[in-house]
Amino acid sequence: MPSSRSPMEERAEARRGPPMAGVLPPPPLLLLLLLLSVCSCAAAAASGAPVGEDYVRPPAAPARLCGVHRKALLSIFPWSEKKKASSSDSDPQQVHISLAGEKHMRITFVTDDNTVPSVVDYGTETGTYTSTSEGESTSYNYLMYSSGKIHHVVIGPLNDNTVYFYRCGGHGPEFQFKTPPAQFPLSLAVVGDLGQTSWTASTLDHIKQCEHDMLLLPGDLSYADYMQHLWDSFGTLVEPLASTRPWMVTEGNHEKESILFFKSGFQSYNARWKMPYEESGSTSNLYYSFEVAGVHAIMLGSYTDYDESSDQYAWLKADLAKVDRKRTPWLIVLLHAPWYNSNWAHQGEGDTMMAAMEPLLYAAHVDIVIAGHVHAYERAERVFDRGLNPCGAVHITIGDGGNREGLARRYRNPKPAWSVFREASFGHGELKVVNATHAHWTWHRNDDEEPVRTDDVWINSLAGSECIKGSSHEYRKILMSP
Ligand SMILES: *[C@@H]1O[C@H](CO)[C@@H](O)[C@H](O)[C@H]1NC(C)=O
Ligand SMILES: [Fe+2]
Repeated sequence: MPSSRSPMEERAEARRGPPMAGVLPPPPLLLLLLLLSVCSCAAAAASGAPVGEDYVRPPAAPARLCGVHRKALLSIFPWSEKKKASSSDSDPQQVHISLAGEKHMRITFVTDDNTVPSVVDYGTETGTYTSTSEGESTSYNYLMYSSGKIHHVVIGPLNDNTVYFYRCGGHGPEFQFKTPPAQFPLSLAVVGDLGQTSWTASTLDHIKQCEHDMLLLPGDLSYADYMQHLWDSFGTLVEPLASTRPWMVTEGNHEKESILFFKSGFQSYNARWKMPYEESGSTSNLYYSFEVAGVHAIMLGSYTDYDESSDQYAWLKADLAKVDRKRTPWLIVLLHAPWYNSNWAHQGEGDTMMAAMEPLLYAAHVDIVIAGHVHAYERAERVFDRGLNPCGAVHITIGDGGNREGLARRYRNPKPAWSVFREASFGHGELKVVNATHAHWTWHRNDDEEPVRTDDVWINSLAGSECIKGSSHEYRKILMSP
């Protein structure tokens, strides 16, 4: 039981990450371990016992095995057929876009043919490309896997709230996206711990049905877990959405894929999901910030250093000090391991990061903190220092996108005073920022293949509140200190 472990042990486990995160055995042994883990998973699900770091839903329907749809389970086997995502080696695959500084967009795509140039042609009329940008490319090797050519091309300046048509690598199919608006209203889709199961597919389908300007993902993307071709299949799975609206992501534990003395971590994630860290003054792809239509969003890294002497801490402090609440009345933060969590899964894993960084967020009057990691949904009141506080942030855990590990169903009781709503179901969130003072947050459960709106709350920005007017507040000094 998690309750019998000391915080030290929990932190040690947090550092260790998922069961396979330490030393990776040679491939044949790895396959054996994989088989064993699938069997033990099935056995544990039958007895209702917790498995590894997560809790697995008991088999509910014949179509499911170990809480995982059979199709999804098969897809984790490394010998499963690598499906060709495109008809020709030079065709762009796995297209996704992300904001790259003011009025710019980064277009990312992969080609099997490494002679394809890193160029994107674009314009506001279909088939007529009035501009061309050239970018950079990278590739990587991981054990016996060699990636395709991964292209990153920044385009712009672009107009706000405008549809652009584009083509990658100088030829191939046309894609299109819409840039976010310059002003409110702004609509953000939010999903964590996505994975690539049939639950993921229904979550993505529901997100597609909702109008959104951008998607935010607080970590755990592909659940490739060392099987590098699963990063490719994830790229293909999300392309229909991620090529049409910017996807802004931060890393979770499943992005790490480190191997002791051999791989330092985040190799595939950094190569494939390059975010605008340089544009926001950060020196690491693992944390950055961006601004969109009156929102300043900060993407923090739960799996890189965050103590007071760390680069991330110094960068966060500088970034927060720059925020102008007149220009961006909304200040939101995303990170992977939640700080306020009443689920038994991952208890205490966010504690050390919270101890280091929560005073900074409080001093800056952050409105909302969104986390993933726990495979369930939970919303807290405005909180600070483990208690209710009207000048603290609303904390939301939304690690229920549809990963193959199943749901985290067991909660601590009694429910803490700060926890308003908690439920172990797959789903996604939507944040509609209506104006400078009001935002509407909803959580949509994937119920019976229909998106059911389940949690629903209006959030008022702290900009212009009594909290911010009291600028002599002692915590304000933290941001101003050298
Ligand atoms: C902001 O939106 C809310 C909710 O729709 C509305 O009640 C309020 O009057 C709006 N404020 C302004 C300044 O328009
Ligand atoms: Fe996670």
